[in-house]
Amino acid sequence: MLYPVAPLFHLFFVTGCAAFSSSVFDSSQTTRRSTFDSTAQYINVTGPHAFSPPGPNDMRGPCPGLNSLANHNFIPHNGIVSLTDSIDASFNIYGFATDFANLAGIIGYLYAGNLATLDLTYSIGGPPPGNVLSGLLGKPPGLSFTHNQFESDSSPTRGDYYQFNHNGYDLQLSAFTELYNLQKDSPNPNYDLDVLLAHRLTRYQQSIAENEYFYYGPVEMLFSSVTHFFIPGLMSNHSAEFPDGILSSEVLASIYGISSDPSTGALSYTRGHERIPDNWYRRPIGGGYSMVNTAADLARMAVYNPQLVAVGGNTNGVNTFAPLDITAFTNGVYNSAMLLEGSNAACFALQAAQQLLPAALQGVEGLVAGLLQQLDEALAGALSELTCPQMLGVDASMLEQYPGYTMTPHAV
Ligand code: HEM
Ligand SMILES: *[C@@H]1O[C@H](CO)[C@@H](O)[C@H](O)[C@H]1NC(C)=O
Ligand SMILES: *[C@@H]1O[C@H](CO)[C@@H](O)[C@H](O)[C@H]1NC(C)=O
Repeated sequence: MLYPVAPLFHLFFVTGCAAFSSSVFDSSQTTRRSTFDSTAQYINVTGPHAFSPPGPNDMRGPCPGLNSLANHNFIPHNGIVSLTDSIDASFNIYGFATDFANLAGIIGYLYAGNLATLDLTYSIGGPPPGNVLSGLLGKPPGLSFTHNQFESDSSPTRGDYYQFNHNGYDLQLSAFTELYNLQKDSPNPNYDLDVLLAHRLTRYQQSIAENEYFYYGPVEMLFSSVTHFFIPGLMSNHSAEFPDGILSSEVLASIYGISSDPSTGALSYTRGHERIPDNWYRRPIGGGYSMVNTAADLARMAVYNPQLVAVGGNTNGVNTFAPLDITAFTNGVYNSAMLLEGSNAACFALQAAQQLLPAALQGVEGLVAGLLQQLDEALAGALSELTCPQMLGVDASMLEQYPGYTMTPHAV
């Protein structure tokens, strides 16, 4: 089978830049005050992009971003999305920076998509209906079944895979409610990064105490932390008064498919009903959420609680979390204290991903070699935004002390 060079070339070098000149991208947005442009940042969810809930055959899964994009027809309503469309919509509607959009899209496709046909589409939920093709990794699983590849433990609202009978994709109302309650009684609720860091610690502690197979490897630490950062980073509503954005209870609930009973205040979740609210304004154009933002948010997480960057997992039942020996794992390039400094937590996780993600796809390497190269380029591109120590390899065998890792086929 021929590897489709042209579409991916388009993907990595044209996508995003077509819509907005790359010269307006400025990673110093993290420190400089943003400006607000009401016309450019307004997301029009009327007419063709009005909310339309999924039907029984429409795929919805662990990502509230993609679920809402499908419900508003920014990506196909059936939830089978092309790599390019998932990247473009994440960039244009939610303000992913190009580095993140490319990375998320390519990892999503590699683990969720159909590697047998290389048709460059994937399901944002479970396996596509009626798809009897057996790919090299089995039936294309969709994002819902990418455990310890993309979908990871200690997510903001999704349950841990082994704790909820292999359901790591549905929202668990208890987890959402814990987050919601952190600001419910505030005079001006705002689910900002500080609030999400508190929630992140709760979710991490719950996974240690409740999930005997909790695995918090380098890649999982990055993914499950970043999804916490996405909540204030990508769901906030922007205005002239608050150019850096405010995330209110109503907007949070809406994008998560949650409604609250007007008289009792009781929350309920309708699966797949993630909705972008009317009059919502995205991140500033050219100030997309990038790896530079992630590195800064991870650094704040490390200060907030150093445990949260200490990767590892439960080794023998609940409450048996053992941190990974970072020095041995990285052959002395990093140590656990270094992860608390500067961009090191982000550097370490991305460099580990460079080693672990392709290794997990061994055996299909011939067929997807071109895609793996694109993945490597996307990771290298993200790393090039940071100043990092140089790491040449990791001792992946050290991960085998964690049952949550060994029991998941193709885990990273
Ligand atoms: C190519 C684009 C994207 C892909 C492939 C993707 C994939 C995923 C996957 C697999 C998860 C589950 C991870 C886990 O278990 O922690 C997830 C979670 C999440 N995604 Fe996305 N995503 C994309 C774009 C977006 C966008 C544009 C947003 C903007 C709001 C977003 C927000 C989130 C959030 C907040 C979560 C955490 C869900 C929770 O546990 O509460 N994602 N995404
Ligand atoms: C939003 O889209 C609708 C339908 O396409 C259009 O009629 C309306 O003018 C748009 N509103 C704004 C403010 O652009
Ligand atoms: C976003 O902020 C603007 C300005 O304060 C406001 O008019 C609008 O209603 C807000 N949107 C949402 C969805 O809260």
